Amino acid sequence: MIRTSDIDAALEHMFGNISFTSEPTGLYDPLRYMIDIGGKRIRPRLCLLSYALFKDRLDEEVFEPAAGLEVFHSFTLIHDDIMDRSPLRRGKQTVWRKWNEDTAILSGDVMLIDAYRRMSSAPEHCRSKVMTLFSTTAAQVCEGQQYDMEFESRDDVGMDAYNMMIGLKTAVLIACSAKMGALLAGASEAECDALYRFGYQIGMAFQVADDYLDAYGDEKVFGKPIGGDIINGKKSWLTVRAYEASPEPESFVRAFTAAAETEEARKAKFESVKSIYDKLGVAADALAEIEKYHLSAKEALRGIDVGAERLSLLYDFATSLVGRVR
Ligand code: IPE
Ligand code: IPE
Ligand code: MG
Ligand code: MG
Ligand code: MG
Repeated sequence: MIRTSDIDAALEHMFGNISFTSEPTGLYDPLRYMIDIGGKRIRPRLCLLSYALFKDRLDEEVFEPAAGLEVFHSFTLIHDDIMDRSPLRRGKQTVWRKWNEDTAILSGDVMLIDAYRRMSSAPEHCRSKVMTLFSTTAAQVCEGQQYDMEFESRDDVGMDAYNMMIGLKTAVLIACSAKMGALLAGASEAECDALYRFGYQIGMAFQVADDYLDAYGDEKVFGKPIGGDIINGKKSWLTVRAYEASPEPESFVRAFTAAAETEEARKAKFESVKSIYDKLGVAADALAEIEKYHLSAKEALRGIDVGAERLSLLYDFATSLVGRVR
């Protein structure tokens, strides 16, 4: 029976030995930097876990598409960090800060192409399904990122709109990762769909947790500056919930849209918005929402007939992701 340590070893091997073109270094160095500085690797991990759920082993055929998921994800982060003006990623300088914006754009582009190349090495029996799934997902992530930007300048974003946006920018790629492992393993359509639903629910929990940690996390663990969403006026689950729950939404909007030009003003804004969150109890609401998604994720795997022992690896994965906020 496959164990978590086998998955760890496979990921170590995949990313320890991953190769990219080297010249021109100005194009490929940022790409290698982004992969080398790590990250949690949750998307390739989920793909391997889902493959092993059906096969109870790992085979060569799953490694390239799984690595492609991480390369694609890292590409989205390079561009996201330009869009969000973020200075820190995975505890290190972001690509646009370390090099410049033009480099970050072009290195990101070539990463997307690299990800496609890895996807296309999927075996014949599922290649067309893998490519369709990946292309659909990649376009959805861009759609989500566009909504995310558009929401920045709106005060009236409701929870339904917010959930639609994070579903696109974050949950679909995690769903795609889970389904891809099942496709590569030759699972049935119903099984592939169940894995997609599992990934989607976990992905929603994951983004709500990311939003929560952006205000309440520890920078050393989170690897990104705490308070970035509040200071830059980025809508998060907490903002939308606060707006919904506040008896005076206008005063919340005032605090949230306050200028933050100086270090002092940034600190004051972070504290004032957080004190409203605290008064309204939105942090506890976020934790309850995460738990709700966690339960739905587990529910999605109910009909999969592979035995409790194999399923437990996926349940443990889900628990570890939502456990980030505990
Ligand atoms: C960050 O993803 C972007 C979100 C979807 C919240 P991760 O938190 O998986 O980032 P890394 O890969 O571990 O750095
Ligand atoms: C990221 O959302 C989603 C994608 C990169 C597609 P965020 O902007 O919240 O991610 P972080 O917080 O910068 O990692
Ligand atoms: Mg963003
Ligand atoms: Mg960001
Ligand atoms: Mg975030």
